[in-house]
Amino acid sequence: MPSGRLSVLVLAAGKGTRMRSKTIKLLHPVAGRPMVAWVLDAAAALKPAKSVTVVGYQADRVRSALAHSRSSFVLQKEQRGTGHAVLQAARHIGSKPGSLLILNGDLPSLRSATLRKLVATHRRSRSALTVLTAELRDATGYGRILRDGKGRVERIVEHRDASRDERRVREINTGVFVANPAKLFPVLRRLRPDNDQGEYYITDAVHELLDRGERVGAVCHSDAEEVLGVNTRQELARASQMLFDRQAEHLQDRGVTLLDAARIWIDPRAKVGRDTVIYPGVIVEGACRIGAECVIRPGCRIVDSTIGAGTEIKDFSVVLESRVARNAAVGPFAHLRPGSILDDSTKVGNFVEVKKTRLGRGSKASHLTYLGDATIGEGCNIGAGTITCNYDGANKSPTDLGKGVFIGSNTQLVAPLKIGAGAYVAAGSTVTRDVPKGALAIGRSRQKNIEGWVARQSKKRKRAKKKS
Ligand code: UD1
Ligand code: CA
Repeated sequence: MPSGRLSVLVLAAGKGTRMRSKTIKLLHPVAGRPMVAWVLDAAAALKPAKSVTVVGYQADRVRSALAHSRSSFVLQKEQRGTGHAVLQAARHIGSKPGSLLILNGDLPSLRSATLRKLVATHRRSRSALTVLTAELRDATGYGRILRDGKGRVERIVEHRDASRDERRVREINTGVFVANPAKLFPVLRRLRPDNDQGEYYITDAVHELLDRGERVGAVCHSDAEEVLGVNTRQELARASQMLFDRQAEHLQDRGVTLLDAARIWIDPRAKVGRDTVIYPGVIVEGACRIGAECVIRPGCRIVDSTIGAGTEIKDFSVVLESRVARNAAVGPFAHLRPGSILDDSTKVGNFVEVKKTRLGRGSKASHLTYLGDATIGEGCNIGAGTITCNYDGANKSPTDLGKGVFIGSNTQLVAPLKIGAGAYVAAGSTVTRDVPKGALAIGRSRQKNIEGWVARQSKKRKRAKKKS
């Protein structure tokens, strides 16, 4: 069988009323990402020659959410059903020999292995159309697969159009098809919307093709949960949980310890090294890379970041779009904002906020500090309560510290500012001018001690009381 090329078509134009949301169903996040993005990823793993997504309701939002995918887009102006949606892409797909994989956009848990098998079966069987099905205990709401006495697929009937007997059928249409486009499109052009919703149903293509003497196949998938569409908020929650569970098991297989996997959410795109230990309440979002032998303590949120081997992120820290190297310590209660780079063996402690700042190897900012737009050399010690004053109300300015600088506690570094290698800044200073290397900068008023002041004050107070 000449396998021909594979094209992918994702249906993403429908509103999804059962979500009761202003937002189109397909943009609701599953495991932190619009559900339709997972569908496109699963299909992209098959390396199709072409990928087209049909958009309609909130088309601009869907397009921009999928801007990073390789898909092109076709507009379905009015949402007149799944058959009508597929037809909108006819010109883009063409009718060259090959296979067309058609997917509903609401199947975030779908695995690429399942799609690969379906395409292979379709090609082997020389069918005009092959549908992926599943058996459900409760099939309410789904299209039912009706088979003849010999078990061959005859028709798909939507729940709302089905008779009582037909509703007893537990095999459902998952909304995933592989078709021969040259055979499918002519049939779709002749569909009639004579059903309860007055829509053009792709499912009606089944008996139309059979009428023309074409072959229609069905592959029943054993893992029903994987191929269930998300239609309600309950199903949305379940789909997220399923993706997180799958990722947890995968990481455990690779030697990661998850203390209470049910309360840890790790993005399916993230990678974690072996012997890393992750505590409950940790959320990892995006394609993060966490190295081996790290410890991530309770309540941390790590987003689009890289954490080197042997690093510890202590309780309730937030790490956003940052890079932390090896053997570093962050937190508890630290906030690394986008663009932070912590080199090897650095320490960022309690209530320290870092933004667009590089902290050189071995440098420490252990307590109550804000470092923004700064470059800090190796081996620096940033005292408690240090603040880079990087914003003058209009512009952001940089702060630059050489190697081995010591900043005393409660210091304001007013940017733009350069402090040379090995320099010291005395505690309590407000530093407004550059400090040469090796110098001591003191930027505070001199201390004065007034002897006997307390006693004199209390006498004064007593006298005042007697008078009144
Ligand atoms: C559809 C199937 C049903 C199947 C179920 C599986 C049809 C007629 N019914 O029903 O047999 O059991 O999926 O979940 O195909 N869409 C468009 N344009 C439209 C209408 C829908 O792009 O005009 C898209 C939606 O965005 C969605 C997908 O098609 O991604 C399915 O639409 P949905 O309304 O969820 O179909 P169901 O009624 O669930
Ligand atoms: Ca659906």
